[in-house]
Formats: sequence, C-alpha cells, structure tokens
Amino acid sequence: MESCTSRLHHFYILVITFGLVSLYILAKSNLPRKISGSCGACYFSLLSFISFSPASADLLPFHKSSNACTEEHSSLHKGRIMEEKSYNTINNFTKENTTNRWQVVKEDFTFPAGGAPFNSCHASTIVEVDKDIFLVAYFGGSYEGAPDVKIWVQRYSNGCWQGPKIADEQTNVSMWNPVLFQLPSKEILLFYKIGQEVQKWSGCMKRSYDGGLTWSKREQLPPGILGPIKNKPILLDDGRLFCGSSVESWNSWGSWVEVTEDSGKTWRKYGPIWLEGETLGVIQPVPYQTAKGTYRVLLRSFEGIGRVCISESEDGVNWSYVRQTELPNPNSGIDGTKMKDGRLVLAYNTDSRACLKVAVSADDGDSWEEKLTLDNTDNMEFSYPAVIQTSDNLIHVTYTYNRTQIKHVVVEPDNMVKL
Ligand SMILES: *[C@@H]1O[C@H](CO)[C@@H](O)[C@H](O)[C@H]1NC(C)=O
Ligand SMILES: *[C@@H]1O[C@H](CO)[C@@H](O)[C@H](O)[C@H]1NC(C)=O
Ligand SMILES: *[C@@H]1O[C@H](CO)[C@@H](O)[C@H](O)[C@H]1NC(C)=O
Ligand SMILES: *[C@@H]1O[C@H](CO)[C@@H](O)[C@H](O)[C@H]1NC(C)=O
Ligand SMILES: *[C@@H]1O[C@H](CO)[C@@H](O)[C@H](O)[C@H]1NC(C)=O
Repeated sequence: MESCTSRLHHFYILVITFGLVSLYILAKSNLPRKISGSCGACYFSLLSFISFSPASADLLPFHKSSNACTEEHSSLHKGRIMEEKSYNTINNFTKENTTNRWQVVKEDFTFPAGGAPFNSCHASTIVEVDKDIFLVAYFGGSYEGAPDVKIWVQRYSNGCWQGPKIADEQTNVSMWNPVLFQLPSKEILLFYKIGQEVQKWSGCMKRSYDGGLTWSKREQLPPGILGPIKNKPILLDDGRLFCGSSVESWNSWGSWVEVTEDSGKTWRKYGPIWLEGETLGVIQPVPYQTAKGTYRVLLRSFEGIGRVCISESEDGVNWSYVRQTELPNPNSGIDGTKMKDGRLVLAYNTDSRACLKVAVSADDGDSWEEKLTLDNTDNMEFSYPAVIQTSDNLIHVTYTYNRTQIKHVVVEPDNMVKL
C-alpha cells in the first residue's frame, strides 16, 4: 500500500513535470494564444484527473481518508494540494512580491466540468457552517439572466462537495447573486434577488436552522431593499447586520448600506454612496470596520473609472463620496474580509476578468500589497470572488470559473497563527 502510493506519487511528479515542460515550450513558441490557452486547460484537466484519483487522496492534508463520498460524482470532488502552484509558472508576474507570496494549500471545483444540471453558473458565495463544513451558493441556468436561472446550494462535508441542490426557483423569472451569512445562533441566511433583468430586481431571502440541509419558505424583503447585493454582510457588536447593497438602473449605478437589527425583518438604508458628479459609478460594496472604529466599503466601479473605489463613514449613516484606491478594477466584482490579525484581504480582477488576484492591506484599504495570482489565462473568465477567513485562520475563496464551474481555493496567509 505504502510503496504503491509512493510509486504513484513518482508517476504524478513525472506527469506533472512533462506537462510543465510541454506547456513551457508551448508558451515560448509562436503558436496562437488560443491554442496555448486550450492546452493550458487540457493540462489543468490532466492535473485534476490525476489528483482526483483515489490514491492521491492520501496526499491531501484536508481529506479525511476514512470518509467515502456517497453522492454521485463525489469521488471527483475531492480537493487536491498544490505542492507548488505549478500552473502559475505560465503566468506573467509583474508586480507580485514573490518573496512573500501567499501559498495555495488546496483547490478544487464544487462539481466536475459538465457535472451540473445547468450550462452556466456565476456569483458564488461561501460560508463556514462548522469546522470543515461549508456551504456554497451561486446562480445557475442556461445563461446569466435566462428565465431558467435558479439559486443552487452545495454542501461540503466529510471531505466532499455534495451535488448542487435547488435553493429557490421561480417559473420564467431569473434569480441572481446569492449571499450566505451565518449568525452566531447558527441560523444561516441566504439572500438573493429575483427579476427578469437587473433593473427589475426584488430582494428575497431564506433561512436554514440545520446547517443548510433544509431551507425556510422564501421571504421577500420590503420594497426598495435588495439585501446584500453580492458580498457578505458584517455583523456589528450591537447585533446590527450591515449589508453592502447597490442599484443599477438607467445611467445610474450607486451603492447603499442596508442595515437590519432583527436578521432581515426590518430594514434601514443609508446612502447613496457614489462618485461625486458621476451617476454611473460604483456598486457591490465590501463592508468592513476599521481599526479606528469607522466604517468603510470597497466598491466595484464602472468602465473607465478603472479602480477599486472606497468610501468611509463615521457612523454608518453619513457616507463620504468615493475615492479611488490603487487597485485596478475592470468593472468586475470584488470581495474581501477583515482578517483576525486586522489586515484586510481582497480578491479582484486586474485588467480583465482573465486575471484574478489577491492583495492585502495593513491600513484598512489605504495601501495594498499583491500576494497571489489565483488564475490568469487569456480568453477565460475568473470572476466574482467570495472571500472568507475560516476558524483555522485559512482564507477560502470561491469564484466563477469561466462561467461553467465554481472554483474553491484555500490560501494560507503569511504570518498565519496556526491553530
Ligand atoms: C508581461 O507583462 C509585461 C508588463 O505588463 C508585458 O510587457 C509583457 O508583454 C507581458 N508578457 C507576456 C508574455 O504576456
Ligand atoms: C516583499 O515582501 C517583503 C516582506 O514583507 C518586504 O520586505 C519587501 O520589501 C517586499 N518587496 C517588494 C518589492 O514589495
Ligand atoms: C412561461 O413562459 C412560457 C413561454 O413564454 C409560457 O408559455 C408560460 O405560460 C409561462 N409560465 C408562467 C407561469 O408564466
Ligand atoms: C458626513 O461625512 C463627511 C465625510 O466623512 C463629513 O465631512 C461631514 O462633516 C459629515 N456630515 C455630517 C452631517 O455628519
Ligand atoms: C471559456 O469560455 C469561453 C466563452 O464561453 C469559451 O470560448 C472558452 O472556450 C472557454 N475556455 C475553456 C478553457 O473552457
């Protein structure tokens, strides 16, 4: 058994080395980008195939080998460890601080390619339900905005992703941007939007009292309240849930903070948070509290603005006009979280949705240091990250993988206090 595993291990190293060398040759050659891109994808599938094979499960620190996955496809859902972030060798690092790069300790897909009952999915959200138990939700259907788009939920337990289950659906009406959040009572909130198009969204939610196994009936939020629009809210010490929301209507993009004191029954909203003189400005806030006790949001910005924007408030009620940060933003969703050590981590696209990176700020968003490239391949989309820090201090990121899958990456930050 031991020698078998170790022989397989050698085999994997051989195959990986072969793959890397051929990729390197491809990348250096003058082959059209498209071909190199698809070879990158083949390589990725090959790697996935290798690491998804049962023998390699022993190599995975996060995998409990005693657990057998029972769901269909689930043997394909096991995570894998990247001893080196090998596919990064084909990427073009320009600004990343390679001496102080954060390490990817695991990555997997929530379902294998072609393994879901929909063609297209987007806008994932992740929550830690308990140690090594996660829920992920996203929207999925024929294509974004199609009448058959539903909210799907997947649960990770016993080391496996279970298959997608429908959390909510509405005949002929599209669903959008779910957001999961767990209250200290362990009640889980699932916010999402329903509407034929973005301008017609209505805010809705469901609740789970059993770790996401079952969900309550749909509750519709009051008119004009959309709930957390893409990114998870923060829970303040006084029990208020502080949600970053936004509006996208004709020639008008702006943000609001929506606050509920009773986990979604009654609401107040504060805003608009916007770029002075620019109605087509900023959406999808990432809310957090600063070390000095103020509130801030980081925001996605409309084409032409080109930067992640930031707004600040002393009281959560009166918000400053936004200003630009140094981080790029190609009109694409971002997400981040305040880490337990006080630093702020953010996942964001750079010049396009083909490149997704992670940066960290030690001064509540005033300055940033790039830490990691999660994915970077021309003609592909890696977008709409959701970022959490789990009880073991690791950082989990889920994101749209070319609109067909949801990728889940676990990152170990530098200076992490190991638990
Ligand atoms: C890498 O990035 C640099 C700076 O942006 C650029 O000049 C160069 O062409 C890039 N190289 C490749 C292979 O994309
Ligand atoms: C990289 O990170 C190290 C450790 O944090 C720091 O000392 C160094 O100045 C950084 N280098 C660059 C180019 O930012
Ligand atoms: C859904 O759309 C189809 C095709 O337009 C229509 O025939 C059907 O009546 C609609 N169903 C509902 C409940 O609106
Ligand atoms: C609102 O916030 C801005 C920016 O922080 C500040 O300049 C202004 O004095 C505040 N206004 C009130 C009424 O608190
Ligand atoms: C990614 O999606 C684009 C657009 O649908 C498609 O053309 C491309 O083939 C996909 N790439 C991979 C590697 O799946």
